[in-house]
Amino acid sequence: TDAYPFHGTHQQGIVTPRPANGMIVACDVLARDRDGLEQLLRTLTERIAFLTRGGTYPQGDPRYPPADSGILGPTIAPDGLTVTVSLGASLFDARFGLADVKPRHLQRMTGFPNDALDPSRCHGDMSLQICAHTHDTTVHALRDILKHTPGGLMVRWKQEGTVPVMPPSDTGPTPSARNYLGFRDGTANPDTADTALMDALVWTGHDSEEPAWTRGGSYQVVRLIRNFVERWDRAPLAEQEAIFGRRKDSGAPLAGGTEYDIPDYSDDPDGQVTPLDAHIRLANPRTPGFEKHRILRRPFNYSNAVEANGQLDMGLLFIVYQADLEAGFITVQKRLNGEPLEEYIKPVGGGYFFTLPGVIDENDFLGRGLL
Ligand code: HEM
Repeated sequence: TDAYPFHGTHQQGIVTPRPANGMIVACDVLARDRDGLEQLLRTLTERIAFLTRGGTYPQGDPRYPPADSGILGPTIAPDGLTVTVSLGASLFDARFGLADVKPRHLQRMTGFPNDALDPSRCHGDMSLQICAHTHDTTVHALRDILKHTPGGLMVRWKQEGTVPVMPPSDTGPTPSARNYLGFRDGTANPDTADTALMDALVWTGHDSEEPAWTRGGSYQVVRLIRNFVERWDRAPLAEQEAIFGRRKDSGAPLAGGTEYDIPDYSDDPDGQVTPLDAHIRLANPRTPGFEKHRILRRPFNYSNAVEANGQLDMGLLFIVYQADLEAGFITVQKRLNGEPLEEYIKPVGGGYFFTLPGVIDENDFLGRGLL
């Protein structure tokens, strides 16, 4: 599919297939009151509806600035574009009088023991997740949105990433793409085609203590996780595989089988086959009752410039969605604290956001239920 329908119960960009390019843009909202916030959300709705559908920009009077940056020409194609809008905890401070309707679990991200958070790459009133088949389409969408929201949004930080899109295999399920540590990533994700499972794990709504407007939204966690690739590339293969609990070539669990076979740890209580501190075993011990802690990962790999010491600045633009931030990311990250993988990774930025429910039809706009 090239155009994802904009109207629906949920925003696009979550269970939508992950395309080759993605970016997170964290912004501060400059609007001063609720009217200004509503105007911003209405403008975002209108721009995203247009950008994701595609179309032709009006040709204007040359005495004025052109309607568009023009980087894609006068007519734009949908190109698989999704723009997903989420709000940070800071938006619910005194400015807009929205404290009473704040999503129950939304909070400012705090550092975990292995983090070295750079304040200039953390938090924000709003995050825009922009994904598309081609990089130029994401850049164009961002520039269109910023052009239309002067005095409304100010960019705080931005991180772009890519993933190889895997061709379907003719012998079995499509293998997962690899991250910059060379391992297949996404294997054990919950199945996005299973709507009942997505209702349970990803979409907010079944918790009666959440404000009613949050129904159909989701908690978004973004983490910029640097990978120490030079060190990793000199680590023994056996150590790398023990760190993840999977084979590097095939992605199969150390417990055996092929990539998508579900590991069974019950016959390996002491971690002889899959170490007890292997990433996948900590992240999901697959014990009864743990299912509710599963999260939907939708990350991109990033490759930025170079650190002052000559090391490559590469890593994972880690993006996850869950119905409940505490049951999801926070529970899993606490279990991962101290894992052997930490020797090779360093979270440096990110934030917690609440992804707004979808826009139902032409009369609706992003965040209407909130205001
Ligand atoms: C699984 C890599 C950070 C949660 C995996 C797998 C890899 C991987 C290779 C196995 C294949 C798969 O199922 O996708 C990484 C890397 C990270 C990272 C390179 C950092 C740079 C995190 C973080 C969390 C997380 C921060 C959550 C707090 C999970 C979960 C699974 C998983 C839930 C699936 C476990 C299962 O159900 O078997 N990760 N990961 N990962 N990871 Fe990570």
